[in-house]
Amino acid sequence: TKATLIIPAAGSGSRLNRETPKPFLEISGKTILEHTILRFLGLESLGQVVVATSPLYLNKAEEILNSVLPEHILFHVIEGGAERQHSIFNTLKFVDDGNLAIVHDAVRPFVELKHIENCCKAAMQTGASVLGVPAKDTIKKIDKDQMILDTPSRSFLWQAQTPQVFKKEILQEAYQKAFEENFIGTDDASLVERLGHPVKMVEGDRSNFKITYPLDLKLAKLLLSS
Ligand code: C5P
Repeated sequence: TKATLIIPAAGSGSRLNRETPKPFLEISGKTILEHTILRFLGLESLGQVVVATSPLYLNKAEEILNSVLPEHILFHVIEGGAERQHSIFNTLKFVDDGNLAIVHDAVRPFVELKHIENCCKAAMQTGASVLGVPAKDTIKKIDKDQMILDTPSRSFLWQAQTPQVFKKEILQEAYQKAFEENFIGTDDASLVERLGHPVKMVEGDRSNFKITYPLDLKLAKLLLSS
């Protein structure tokens, strides 16, 4: 089975208070997008990469893909949308039926190859899988006044990361349904869950954090320069 890597990289980076969108910030001479893509090059089944980015960065993204991808891996750079979900929906028409669709945030440059492979294996078996880790903190459900409503048992709470891997047809159906019903989720698996389709959680590592806040960027710089 061939795999297509889908990378949403069209975020504005507002929580980081930077002009440059996160995927295009440079650390140790490489953009974060480049660091992230390099993590996938060891994946044998990888046949194609599709990156969604904002209009101003289409050329930059093309340049990066041209320089890091070996010739046998095809790539497309397309314009993203207002929400992460729109960005990904736009990429799906470039993914052939029968492919595995691997969705991975541009801003998770620390994912390990063995975890990518484990996730792909699980998705081949079940149709859908997500990399994650057990919740570290106790998670509270609150109301709009920030009063606590509930404390779900931590033993069944996991944090979802990416990659999230799907048989292409399943992901397509999930996005189509979400689009028709105007549903916006915060990850891809949640759309597939709405189909009633099972999704397997695969244990990864806490080092696969998403560069979101200034502290994350500091940590990423420390890790990538050492
Ligand atoms: O905003 P968040 O941290 O969830 O973003 C996760 C990933 O989704 C980032 O790589 C970001 O560039 C991407 N994204 C996107 N299109 C958007 C918003 C976020 O591709 N409209």
